[in-house]
Amino acid sequence: MFQEIQRTLFTREQIAERVKGMAADIARDIQADLEKDGHSVLDMDKVIIIPVMTGAMIFVADLIRELPLRLSLGLVAVSSYPGASVRSKGALLASEMPKDLAGKHIIVLDDILDSGQTLAMVRDLILKQNPATLRMGVMLDKQVKRVADISADYVGFEIPDEFVVGYGLDYDGYYRNHPEIGVLDTDSLPS
Ligand code: IMP
Ligand code: MG
Repeated sequence: MFQEIQRTLFTREQIAERVKGMAADIARDIQADLEKDGHSVLDMDKVIIIPVMTGAMIFVADLIRELPLRLSLGLVAVSSYPGASVRSKGALLASEMPKDLAGKHIIVLDDILDSGQTLAMVRDLILKQNPATLRMGVMLDKQVKRVADISADYVGFEIPDEFVVGYGLDYDGYYRNHPEIGVLDTDSLPS
């Protein structure tokens, strides 16, 4: 779709298959938690999915439609790459936190785990509210630059340390609508 995306890492089909697999894993784990508490997957007010905006929106839109659970959404917005940059400047909370998470089963979903600062910040804020369980899922895991002490419970794909875009991931706000995940050639960007 964009010629400056020089190499495709994952096609639409590969992504869709992996998202289904992750959804099955999440549904199985949440169902087990709920049954342990004497609840069912159709009980109300037990499961909250928290997408980290904006990068997670496409991943989450696809994933929740594969989850046969009664769930609600609570958004958080975090910014870490202000402007045209491929280097994280640390995580900044850019929204209020969802409330009333106490006793709930929470799943935080993000597009990518890189330094880990974003998910570590969100995790710490959620834990203050005493959820019943907290799990994290990411479409992509770049293990190389981890700064914060964090790992994801659900990972779509592990990738090398390259700047990727598409399927929700952006460079300076663009390319989120690219339907595949690919490596951006930052030298050939249109100005
Ligand atoms: P972390 O806080 O360093 O783990 O970075 C996580 C955030 O940085 C993600 O939510 C993404 O929005 C962004 N990010 C990290 N790596 C990439 C990338 O390769 N492409 C686009 N965004 C990225
Ligand atoms: Mg993000």
